[in-house]
This record gives sequence, C-alpha cells and structure tokens, in this order.
Amino acid sequence: MLSFQELSVQFNAYFDTAHFPASPETLYEPGEYFLKIGGKRIRPVMCLLGNELFSEIHPDAFQVARAIELFHNFTLVHDDMMDEAQLRRGMPTVHTKYDANTALLVGDVMLIRAYEFLQTIQPSYLPKILKIFNKTAREVCEGQQLDMDYAKMSEVTMEQYIFMITLKTSVLLAATLEVGAIIGGASENNCHHLYEFGKKIGIAFQIQDDYLDAYGNAADFGKEVGGDIKQNKKTFLLLHAMSVATAAQRKALDELLNDNAANKVEKVLEIFNACGVAEWAENLKAKYMEEAFEHLESIAVVSSRKQPLIDLANYLMNRNK
Ligand code: IPE
Ligand code: IPE
Ligand code: MG
Ligand code: MG
Ligand code: MG
Repeated sequence: MLSFQELSVQFNAYFDTAHFPASPETLYEPGEYFLKIGGKRIRPVMCLLGNELFSEIHPDAFQVARAIELFHNFTLVHDDMMDEAQLRRGMPTVHTKYDANTALLVGDVMLIRAYEFLQTIQPSYLPKILKIFNKTAREVCEGQQLDMDYAKMSEVTMEQYIFMITLKTSVLLAATLEVGAIIGGASENNCHHLYEFGKKIGIAFQIQDDYLDAYGNAADFGKEVGGDIKQNKKTFLLLHAMSVATAAQRKALDELLNDNAANKVEKVLEIFNACGVAEWAENLKAKYMEEAFEHLESIAVVSSRKQPLIDLANYLMNRNK
C-alpha cells in the first residue's frame, strides 16, 4: 500500500500535463495557469485512497481523481468571483489576472472537462459514479448559494452553518472517497461508512479553513487573511463570538458588520480573541474528527489498511495552508 504522501507524488506527476487544447488561447491559457499554480490536491488523492483501502489502485481511479480535481478547480474559480478574492495559492485569481467573463468560462470549461474524463471509465460502474458526482455537484451549488445568502442575514444558527459547509465543502470530500471505494469494489455498507467519514472530516476541514481565514499566516495560507470577515461570512468564528459576546461586544460586532471600516478586520479579530473563538475551534474540530473516526472503525477491512486515511485526517486538521 502507498502512503498519502506517495500517492500525492504519483497524482501530481499524472496531473502535471496540459488539460486543454491550445486554442483559443484566451480561454485555455488562463485555465492552465490556474491548474498549474497547484493547491494541495487532497481530493484526487482521497479518491485514490478510497480505492486503495479495498484493492489495488485501478487506472480508472486516476481518471476520476483528475475529474474531481478539475471540478474542484472550477468551483474555486467561480468562488473567487463570488467572494471577490484577489489571491489564491499565493497567486492572482483568474478574474483578477484576466477578467470576470474569462473566469466564468474557465470555470465552465473545467467542469465540462471533468465530465470528459469521467466518461472514459468502465461502463460497469460509470452510471453509479456519475450519479454520485451529479448529486454532489448540485449540493456544492446549493451550499455556495447558502454561503452567499447567509452573508446578508443577521441571524444564522450554528446548525445552519454546519448544514451550509456540509454542502459547499464536505460532500465533495465524502463523495471523492466513495467513488474511489466503488472502483475498489467496496460493499454498500463500507461505502456508506467511508462517505460518512469523509463528510465529518470535510466539516472539520472547512472549520480549519475558516479558522485560517481569520488566524492564518498569509504567506502560508496563500489567500487574503481576513477575507471572510470583510465579506461578512457567517463562519463559526463569528457565530460563536455573537453567541458569547457581551452586550457591548455584540453591538460593536453589529456595527462592524454594517459598515466597511478600514480597520474592520482588526476590530473583529479583537472581539474574536476576547470571545475565545480559537479554543472553541479546536473543540469543534475534535468533535467532528471523533465522529469521523467512529465511521472509519466501522469499515470492515483490517485496521492497518486504514492508516493512510488516519494520516490524511491528521494532516488536514493541522495544516496551515
Ligand atoms: C479550498 O480548498 C476550498 C475549500 C473547500 C475550503 P483547498 O484548501 O483544498 O484548496 P487547494 O486546492 O488546496 O488550493
Ligand atoms: C468555498 O469555501 C467552498 C467552495 C469553493 C465550493 P471558501 O470560500 O471558504 O473557500 P476559499 O477559502 O475561498 O478557498
Ligand atoms: Mg472563497
Ligand atoms: Mg466562498
Ligand atoms: Mg475559506
């Protein structure tokens, strides 16, 4: 069996190629630009890990992994437009470097390319994988819309937040593992537990992303720190601060959310600190990690085969980028 790191190296070598034709260059060059600036590539590696948990990795798993990474990059290109983000992976976002219309089409064409790769896999499991892929893709759109809706709402509950991040982020991690497992010949029951494992670590993953958006080091994170605060994103940081804030802090937060003061990020962070959101984040992540590991335990394969997934989960929780 290969480790998480070894599979990352394999996938990166496989993915390090042109993904589009040469022309029109005005469309495909920006697409290649975005794909070349890297990223952690965790989703495709998760697909390979899902396969490897049950049997030797089939070449189809690489095709599906590639499709998933393309799909993920499509969501990022559009997400950066929606979030007005200028920086990703330490580099200018597509709509910033080129323009909004190009970014729309680059995202669209990545999604279409993803389906082209999916189409090449064995017909025996193609319909099943396509069904999961489609359901997941639609859920990501739903989650992304809720993310935008919540930014405009003053009251959002922690349950709504978890529901939203499950859709926008965690179902893709879950589905990625599951489709890998299907290629590996896993039973329905094992697929179910692997999916749930992915969903729980996906929630913890987005919690960590939201934490890093407020507290990360910009050079490592590769995105603008404080971007979520500027956009009034209803992250658990803000929700938790709102729920434990004193009346004065609550009033200050409400005011900060209603105007775009130059020192908004700094001021909001002061209140976050006073409300102990960082400690709370650790507990919240730990809770979802624990639930994830319960599902991993329920998968009927020898425990030594699960080590790469444990390594993956630990890496995701402790990352700084
Ligand atoms: C960013 O995903 C979007 C989220 C769901 C938080 P990643 O953190 O996996 O982004 P890259 O691909 O490594 O850049
Ligand atoms: C985005 O969440 C999730 C998707 C791209 C679907 P974020 O907006 O927090 O992701 P980042 O922080 O920009 O990567
Ligand atoms: Mg974003
Ligand atoms: Mg977003
Ligand atoms: Mg984020």
